[in-house]
This record gives sequence, structure tokens and C-alpha cells, in this order.
Amino acid sequence: MNKRNIMAVIFAVLTTGACSGSNYNIPILNAQDSAFKNKLPIPPVLKPVEEKNISRYTLQVQQGNYEFIKGEMVYTYGYNGPILGPTIKVKRGQKVSIEVQNLLREFTTVHWHGMLVPGDMDGGPHQVISPGKKWTASFTVNQPAATAWYHPHGLGTTARQVYMGLAGLFIVEDEISDKLNIPREYGVNDIPLIVQDKRLSEEGVPLYLTGMRDIMVGMLGNTILVNGVITPHLTVTKNKYRLRILNGSNARVYNFSFNDNSPFFIIATDGGFLEKPVKRKNIILSPGERIEIIADFSKYSDGRNVKLVSGNIDIMEFRVNGIEKETAIIPERLANINGYDPSSSKRARLFQLEGMGHMVAINGRKMNINRIDEYMNYNDTEIWTITSSTAMHGRGMMGGGMMGRMGPDVLHNFHAHGVHFLILSRNGIPPGDHEKGWKDTVLLNENEEVKVITRFLYRGIFMYHCHILEHEDNGMMGQFKVK
Ligand code: C2O
Ligand code: CU
Ligand code: CU
Repeated sequence: MNKRNIMAVIFAVLTTGACSGSNYNIPILNAQDSAFKNKLPIPPVLKPVEEKNISRYTLQVQQGNYEFIKGEMVYTYGYNGPILGPTIKVKRGQKVSIEVQNLLREFTTVHWHGMLVPGDMDGGPHQVISPGKKWTASFTVNQPAATAWYHPHGLGTTARQVYMGLAGLFIVEDEISDKLNIPREYGVNDIPLIVQDKRLSEEGVPLYLTGMRDIMVGMLGNTILVNGVITPHLTVTKNKYRLRILNGSNARVYNFSFNDNSPFFIIATDGGFLEKPVKRKNIILSPGERIEIIADFSKYSDGRNVKLVSGNIDIMEFRVNGIEKETAIIPERLANINGYDPSSSKRARLFQLEGMGHMVAINGRKMNINRIDEYMNYNDTEIWTITSSTAMHGRGMMGGGMMGRMGPDVLHNFHAHGVHFLILSRNGIPPGDHEKGWKDTVLLNENEEVKVITRFLYRGIFMYHCHILEHEDNGMMGQFKVK
């Protein structure tokens, strides 16, 4: 590795973006000559072996060699391949059994983020898979159609292992998604987009934690990858496309829009469909969150290119070419959301996200694998208040001056395992229409307060944490047990 390049990257990271309100404004540092040259790859759908009503899947967690930059082979991690993983596509009601083989030289776990499963099948920090060992998750899919995902969740190793390439999609379909006349041909007009950023050296090596800021803010890259390749393109016809966007980044928050400011329709959030499509020109997505949108390319002429961007950062390009018979529509109604009555809440709880860097905590405490922080009762409904502040308890390692510089870019979000929730309010005001769907991860801006309502439908031990992965690994996580 070339030391000079690395230093240049660190310097640039330390001196840019310090005054922006949130980290989606932090620019990508490398102007990419290769922009849009790559074709968007589509993660293959994992084929199960069907056996007595059970679909058996196998995932191999492995080391690989991969070229982020052509001709520069580097060392990565992936599921069943050198980077990322196949898409697991299931139907509500399906019984699945997923055998995970750990071929790495370090321990890992595989967590099904957004899947509602019992605590011991959740793949959190308790379900450690030692090197060379296997672990099998068996459960019946019982939740509405949604775009979920899977990724490692080892105590203190989540961020690095995700950064090394471990992430895949977990798509649930149900009777409603099967009947809706929306684009739903996977890889054809139903396009998965795993958006990540990495700090690539000139040799294409993904550098990790090269400066103090990476601990403070979380690891921000200099290069955008979609489905594992640098700012790709996808050729589309003049039709409607459904984009299932996962923010699989360690720490970067995106504010997605099209570069010509065209509106699109949001149809689903983390946990499933909204009641009706919401027309928007932009959508903010924090790490771990998913959104499904329908974009309509029919108004463009052949040869037009439209870019998906985040502020001034290019994400990918759509190249419009040709027409196909269109059958998909933007439905008036998508699904019913049967929320919970706030008056049925058995208990109110407070989760205070605070600090930055090594000083992050929830309710003043850091993760302790031997401590259960909260006890819940099966089938209870609860209202949770989540607050966020980057200020630290007492005087941390950082002086006030430094905090002033770092502070504005530090964000927290809140993710809970084992449940989906609905947002009741954001700073006392009902959420926007695009936030009215089922969620498992929610972004909080500095000093915001979000109230959510949830119900515990699965027993066991589950995590709640900030999904800025460097914060999670620094202890910004707690455990709840549903009895
Ligand atoms: Cu996506 Cu606890 O994680
Ligand atoms: Cu999760
Ligand atoms: Cu955080």
C-alpha cells in the first residue's frame, strides 16, 4: 500500500465537511474516471433445496479476491462469493432452514435484519459461529412482504466484517405483493440496490479506520459502490422500475434523488408496504434502512441518462433505451397497516442515544453481553421514546473545540431486532407520509425525539443499537429479553 495516498485521504477527510449539517453532505473525495462504466450486477437469487416443506439454504461465509478497480485484486469477504451475498427470496408462510458455514479465520454471526424470528434464530452476538463451524437458523416466515437483509453481527466485529463485504438481501413476498400490479420481476424491473461507500486506495484496497474521525463519525468512504461495483449504470426501458434500496453503508446517510429532480413513488419502508404510494423528490436513508420506490422512465427519450444522486454525490446512472409493453401501474392502495392502539401500551420506555466515538452509549451504558438491559412481556404493546444527542456524559476524551468540529456530522439511528415498529411522532409531530410504514431502523437528527409503538411477537434476547456500525461496535447497543 502506498502510504502517501492513505495520508492524503485522511487529510482530506479531516478537512472537509466539518460544517455540514449531517454526513450526507460530506463529499466523495475521488472524482471517478470510471464513473458509470460498470454495469450494475444483480445479486443472484439463492436456490434452496426443497425438502419436506422446508426450504434449505446454504451460505458460506468466505474470504475472496475481488477487483473494485480493474486489474487490482484485493482481499474481501463475501457469502458464497468474494463480495456481498446472494438474495434470499422467501414467501410468507414458508419454512426455511439456513445453514451458515464459517470459512473465515475469525468468528462471525449472520443476523437477519428486518426478519421477525425468535431470539435464538436472530443471528445476533449470541449466535457466534467459530471458524470452521456451522450454525443453522430455522424459522417460519410470518411477516408482510418486505426488503430485509442479512449481515454479520459479532460483538465488536460487525463494522469491519460488513465493510469487508458481508451483506445480502432477504426479500419476503406475500399474497399482497404477488397481486399488486407493480414491477416485480427480480433483476428485470424489480431492481435491488445495495448502496455502500468504501475508502479505496489508488490500488483499490478498502482502507478501514485510517483516522480518528472514523471512530467519531463512523467510517465514511471516498467511493460509492452499488451491488459491489463502483458507481454503475443500468440500462432501462421507458417503463416503471421498482428500486429496492438498502443503505448497507457503515455510517453514511444518503439523501437520494434523481439529478433532474424527477419525482418518484415510495411504496415501502423497512418492514413492508405503505398504505399508499407517496410521491417524493428525495428520500433520506440512514445505515440499515431500506426503501422501495417506483421510478418512471417513460417520459425520457432514448439515449437519455438519469442519475441517482445523493446531494452532489453520484450513486449510479440509468440509461434509457427502448420501450416495452407496460403493465405495471402505481396503485392507489398498497396494503393495510394494522397499527397498534397507543392506549393499549403496557409500558413506556426511553432510549437515549448519546455521545460519539468511543464515548457512545444508550441510556448512559455500553453494551455488556452478560447484562439484559430491558425485560419485556410477550405480546405486550409498548411505546418507546428515542432521543439522540452527540453530547457526551461528563467530559470525554474530546475537548470542546474538537467537538465543535466533529459534532455536526455525527448522527445516530436506532434499530431494534425482533420487532417492527410504527413511528407515532417526530419531535411531537406526526411523521411524514413516507415514514408511516413499518420500520425497524429510524434516523434521528441531533436532539430529535422519536416515539414509536411496537409489540413483541417473538420471545428471546434481542439487540437494539445505533446502526452506525462503528458506534455499535463501540458499545452503542443494549439487549432486551422478551419473556
Ligand atoms: Cu442490521 Cu443489529 O443490525
Ligand atoms: Cu437487525
Ligand atoms: Cu450512533
